[in-house]
Amino acid sequence: MQDDEDMDFARRLSRIADRVTVALDQLIPPAQGPEADLMRGMRHAALANGKRMRPFYVIETGALFDAPQQSLLRTAAALECIHTYSLVHDDLPCMDDDDFRRGQPTVHKAFGEATAVLAGDALLTLAFKILAGEDTHNDPLVRLRLIERLADASGAQGMVGGQMIDMLESDSPRDINTITRMQRLKTGALISYSVEAGAIIGGANEAERNALHGFAHDLGLAYQIADDLLDVEGDEAEVGKPLRSDAEAGKANFVTLLGVDQAKERVRLLAAQARQHLAIFRKRANILLQSVDFVLDRTH
Ligand code: IPE
Ligand code: IPE
Ligand code: MG
Ligand code: MG
Ligand code: MG
Repeated sequence: MQDDEDMDFARRLSRIADRVTVALDQLIPPAQGPEADLMRGMRHAALANGKRMRPFYVIETGALFDAPQQSLLRTAAALECIHTYSLVHDDLPCMDDDDFRRGQPTVHKAFGEATAVLAGDALLTLAFKILAGEDTHNDPLVRLRLIERLADASGAQGMVGGQMIDMLESDSPRDINTITRMQRLKTGALISYSVEAGAIIGGANEAERNALHGFAHDLGLAYQIADDLLDVEGDEAEVGKPLRSDAEAGKANFVTLLGVDQAKERVRLLAAQARQHLAIFRKRANILLQSVDFVLDRTH
């Protein structure tokens, strides 16, 4: 039996996941015309059963500042488009070559490689269209800021740069600093954006922005180390993607470099630091604090 606090987090995450899925269903074009498989591929990836953690952070950070729900939801959907595209491309044969994702065949397995590349491209561009739309925020400067920061978090100096480091040949030197940089970029950048976007829409002050930045920085790294631990210790059916592949593929990450025990210790340390950053919000940050426990004990 979960205690009330866990139930609270689980219920809120599930409610946000449902709202984001409905929003994505409305925002992704219907499958029509000779290009219909493209939209089918986008829908296959984006409407599947993701945890929707990044949308959760956009919406719950925005809630700290009573930010308008429609702005938060559209921004959360845009970010989930980018994250989903990154997964579609990450699974391609030229990258991690994985056949399952979110409990179903990957897009290239279901629709072919070319469609998977194009569905990823189209989700990436859709994200920026969503943010640019007037419905996202009535102040165009806020929309521009959201767009600029998402471009930073997703591009060469963010997620894509991290994926590049991840793809380096296994005999290239990868010390702890390189691994830390890779994780911060490939996963940390989008998680940081999720929290930052909530702060931008909510009009957070500088002290609040700094605290949230510190929180996301530690949380993002913990999130990827937890993913790497799941690759070693997780249950495939529960995680919904193939596991036990990182070591075999010669991936360098905190777990292959430090071993399971030290990697777990690092997650605990990062989680403790992440919690400390939230102190200035006192009780208002309760749900964000609960999310740290979820990341710490992730089983999927
Ligand atoms: C998987 O992300 C890839 C990482 C960056 C760790 P998630 O674990 O958030 O995957 P979904 O969105 O729930 O499928
Ligand atoms: C992927 O990291 C991070 C992305 C930017 C997509 P992984 O390759 O470890 O993610 P999974 O394990 O396939 O979800
Ligand atoms: Mg990968
Ligand atoms: Mg992968
Ligand atoms: Mg992984």
